[in-house]
Amino acid sequence: MANNSLFRRKSLESVMKNIDVADDIHLEQHSKGLKRTLTVRDLTFFGIAAIIGAGSFSSLGSAIFNGGPGVVLLFVITGIACAFTAYCYSEFASRIPVSGSAYTYAYTSFGELFAWVIGWALIMEYSIGNIYVAFSWSDYFTSFLDKSGIHIADYLTCSYLEAKKLFDAYTSSLSTDAPMILTSAQQELKNAWEQAPSIGGLKIILDLPAFMINIFITALVYIGVKESRNFSNVMVVLKLAIIVLIILVGGGLLFSNGLTFNWTPENEEGIKSFMPNGFGGVMMAISGVFFAYIGFDAVSTMAEEAKNPQRDLPRGMILSLVICTAVYILLTLVLSGVVNYKNFDGVGDPLAFIFEEQNLNIGWMQILVSICAVVAMTSVLLVFQLGQPRIWMSMSRDGLLPEKFNTVHPKYKTPSYATIVTGLVVGIPLLFTDKTFVLDFTSIATLFAFVLVCGGVLLIPRREKEKGRFHMPYVNGKFIYPVIVSSFFILFCVLNNNYISSLFSEQTTYNISTIIFWIICFILSAFAFIRSWSLIPLMGVSTCLYLLTGMTAKNWLWFSAWLAIGLVIYFMYGKKNSKLNV
Ligand code: ALA
Repeated sequence: MANNSLFRRKSLESVMKNIDVADDIHLEQHSKGLKRTLTVRDLTFFGIAAIIGAGSFSSLGSAIFNGGPGVVLLFVITGIACAFTAYCYSEFASRIPVSGSAYTYAYTSFGELFAWVIGWALIMEYSIGNIYVAFSWSDYFTSFLDKSGIHIADYLTCSYLEAKKLFDAYTSSLSTDAPMILTSAQQELKNAWEQAPSIGGLKIILDLPAFMINIFITALVYIGVKESRNFSNVMVVLKLAIIVLIILVGGGLLFSNGLTFNWTPENEEGIKSFMPNGFGGVMMAISGVFFAYIGFDAVSTMAEEAKNPQRDLPRGMILSLVICTAVYILLTLVLSGVVNYKNFDGVGDPLAFIFEEQNLNIGWMQILVSICAVVAMTSVLLVFQLGQPRIWMSMSRDGLLPEKFNTVHPKYKTPSYATIVTGLVVGIPLLFTDKTFVLDFTSIATLFAFVLVCGGVLLIPRREKEKGRFHMPYVNGKFIYPVIVSSFFILFCVLNNNYISSLFSEQTTYNISTIIFWIICFILSAFAFIRSWSLIPLMGVSTCLYLLTGMTAKNWLWFSAWLAIGLVIYFMYGKKNSKLNV
């Protein structure tokens, strides 16, 4: 392929050779490059540290409100999609044990342009996702301070956009027949807008605790992975302990108080169901549920710091995913069992909420959960802030980003420049965005990256088994995959008599994306049949694409705009400066 092609690829050999060259340049990894210190236990802990955070401590409340107890099904579907994807990540990570995650994998399978697009999309997962986590961290932190009698002014604990949106909606509702009745959280936003000081007509409203925790995490990551790892391991043990406690205490009371009837609550029409708002309600929770799973892939960015990356990376990823899936299923069952799903409307701290006076009424659990939520989310912030600079470092090595991003700190051996830029990329938008926006944005971009990773595995050649290395099991998808696709298609048609006509009746985002989903699945079936493609990556692509059908038009619009900006940067900088451009 010509050197100036958009689809020029790095061969697996050249990626590995680059590492050797990098080793030569750095003399020894141990003395000059990144330190190799992480074991399989550390990597699993990293996975759990990244996965369990704002998704379970914060967005689980609105997920249950939308989907009822049936949201547990979405956790199962998403868990399965992530497991297929984890296998694909593992396959790549065991072949290409370098920092860079999906970005590096795409470079070897799809070529440079796709690699850049993935690297660009991953900024959403790693940096923009951390904005959501920082906001949620601040919610729990300020509510904990409140319980301890310390009150920070409302205009210093919420985002400008949230306060403005609420105030505008409230004032316009005053001129209608149905003025808004504010919940306590909404009242705080209104207070923030009314009480904020102004400079030159601009209201000073910012989430100060979220801003401060970002500075603290950036400093910690700058100092070094070993220190951060110890800190992270302690936090993981703590958060797993509290979640087990919630499941035991909540689950025990659920049965002893005879509350299991909440698993089939009545909906607005008085019908009792596990999915009170139907499967549509369950799918509305997709951004929040998927967000809860993001993180297992962050393990792969630690490849250059793992002692035995080929063996330990896949193990760490899959182990952490299995543990977290079990935790989510149990948590969802406990939460939706002890409290009716409708009561989770607007609840941002669902794990503490179930222990409030009107529910299980256990005061000490509320305080304990708040403290642990702060700890859990700190560990999530840490892992993503560790991952992002390492992806940029790989992109810089390839010439797609300026050389500066590859700077390793002489004393701390960390990617110092990229770490500071990450801190800025999280910290500055914190001042201008709100939670819902960043949640949707992060989930769509990450799912998109997952689809490309699974697709990439289909394109790389199979290899011989080697002892001690992870090897993705090969199941021939020639017949099985087309049978699975056709069976599900028939099942959907049987469950909904007008399935096909309903998809074509109205041009909604869901209908359009579902039609595209089925078309891709049938095309993949043909390829699977002709080329005997492997079943696991095929299922990874299809399940992640299915989850993408739950995204709204607004999500797609913002994501497309983000990709367009990325492409402009690639054509102006990356294409010219790429190391393959010789
Ligand atoms: N999965 C991570 C969380 O829930 C991003 O916070």
